[in-house]
Amino acid sequence: VIKDLFAPAYANPAGSPIRELFPYLSRPGMISFAGGYPSPALFDAEGLRQAAERVFAQPAQALQYGPTEGSAPLRQELLRLSSGRGLRCLPEELLVTTGSQQAFDLLVRVLVQPDDVVLLETPAYPAAIQALRLAGAVIHELPMDADGLQTASISDRLKQMPAGAKPKLLYTVPTFSNPRGTLLPHSRRVELIQLARRHGFLIIEDDPYGELTFTGDTPQPLYALAQDEGGPENPVVYLSSPSKTVAPALRVGWMVASSDLVRRCVVAKQTVDLCTSPLAQLIAAGYLQSGRYPGTVSKARDEYRSRALAMADGLAATLGAQVRFERAQGGMFLWVECTSTVDPRRLFEAAVQQGVLFVPGAAFYPGMPEGTAMRLSFAAPNVSEIREGVARLARAFASSTSNIPVTS
Ligand SMILES: Cc1ncc(COP(=O)(O)O)c(C=O)c1O
Repeated sequence: VIKDLFAPAYANPAGSPIRELFPYLSRPGMISFAGGYPSPALFDAEGLRQAAERVFAQPAQALQYGPTEGSAPLRQELLRLSSGRGLRCLPEELLVTTGSQQAFDLLVRVLVQPDDVVLLETPAYPAAIQALRLAGAVIHELPMDADGLQTASISDRLKQMPAGAKPKLLYTVPTFSNPRGTLLPHSRRVELIQLARRHGFLIIEDDPYGELTFTGDTPQPLYALAQDEGGPENPVVYLSSPSKTVAPALRVGWMVASSDLVRRCVVAKQTVDLCTSPLAQLIAAGYLQSGRYPGTVSKARDEYRSRALAMADGLAATLGAQVRFERAQGGMFLWVECTSTVDPRRLFEAAVQQGVLFVPGAAFYPGMPEGTAMRLSFAAPNVSEIREGVARLARAFASSTSNIPVTS
C-alpha cells in the first residue's frame, strides 16, 4: 500500500553508487581508493578541540537555534575566506549551508522543476547527478578532456537542442574536478562565462578542492572572473566548503550568489533544516579565527602532493601502457582509463578480492554506461598503503584483462 504513496521521483530510486560501496570498506585489510575522504592523519583535532572548548564557554549561543542565513561569526570568516579567493561578496550574497552538498540541493529546489533542461559536465560528481535526477531535470551531458569541460563544444550542443529547450543551469567543478581531477584553464573560464551570459543560464561553480593545489598556480574562480569582467548580473553561483581541508563532519559549507537567489535558498533551507548546526558553525568559526587554517591547508597540500605522486608513479610502473591518466595538479583524484580490454565488472570483483577498492567510472555518468574508466582517490591512504593498493590493483588487472588492445 505504501508503495503507491511514493512521489514519482522516489518510486524506484537508485541510491548513491558510492555509498553502495560502503559494505566493502569494512572488510579487514581493505585499501580504499574509493571515497573522496580526506586523510584522517590531517585532521587538526587539537585545533578543533580548542575551538570547541571556547564555544562551550558560551553555551547560550552554541546550543540554541540560529539564523537560517548562518551564525554571524562564521559568516564573517566565510566572507573573509571568499574575499581571499578574489570574490567580492556582500553579506546578503552569502549563505551558510549544511555542507556544500546542501547548497547545491537548495539551488536545485529553487531553480529546477520537472523537465527543465540542465547542463552537466561528465564525468560528474554523483550527488549532483542524483539531485538533478530527483528534481526531474532533463540532463544534457557535456564532455570533458584533460583540461576539464570542453567549452568549445557547448555552442554546438545548444544548437542541437530541440526548440524551446533552454538550459537553466550548468554544473561544473572547474578546479580539480571530481572525478577527473582536471583544472579548467583561464581561457575556457572566460569562454564559459561568455556562453552563460549569451544564453542566459547560471553556472554553478562547485569548489571544494580549489585550495588543494600542488603547484600554487590556479586560475581565478569563475565567480571572481565574471565580477572582474564586469557586465550585468554575475551568471555564476559559487559553492565551497571546509570539508576537504578541515573536516567533513563539521557539515558546514557556503554559497555566494545574488541576493535574490540567496533569499530564495534561505526560504528553501527553512523547511530543510531551519539552520545549519550552530554548534558546528561556531566551532568552524573559532577554528578559522584561530589562525591555524592556513597551516592545515598547507600541510594537506604537501601530503596530497606526495600521495598523488606515489599513486601516479606506482600506476605507471606496474600497469604502464594498460592505463591512461593525467597527473594531478591538485585535489584528491586520478581518473584512470584502461587501454587494454578489461571487463569492468570482473576488474572490480578482482580488485575487491585482492583487497583494494575504487569507484567504477560508470558511477559518474547519469546513464551509468558500462565503461572502463575508474576513479582513484589518493587522499585517504598513506604512501605505503597507496603502493600496496596499486600492486593489488595490478594483480586484479592481470586476472581480468585479455591482451587484445582496444582499437578506438
Ligand atoms: C564536487 C563536490 N561537491 C560537493 C561535495 C560535498 O561536500 P560537502 O562535504 O561540503 O557537502 C563533494 C564531496 O565529495 C564533492 O566532491
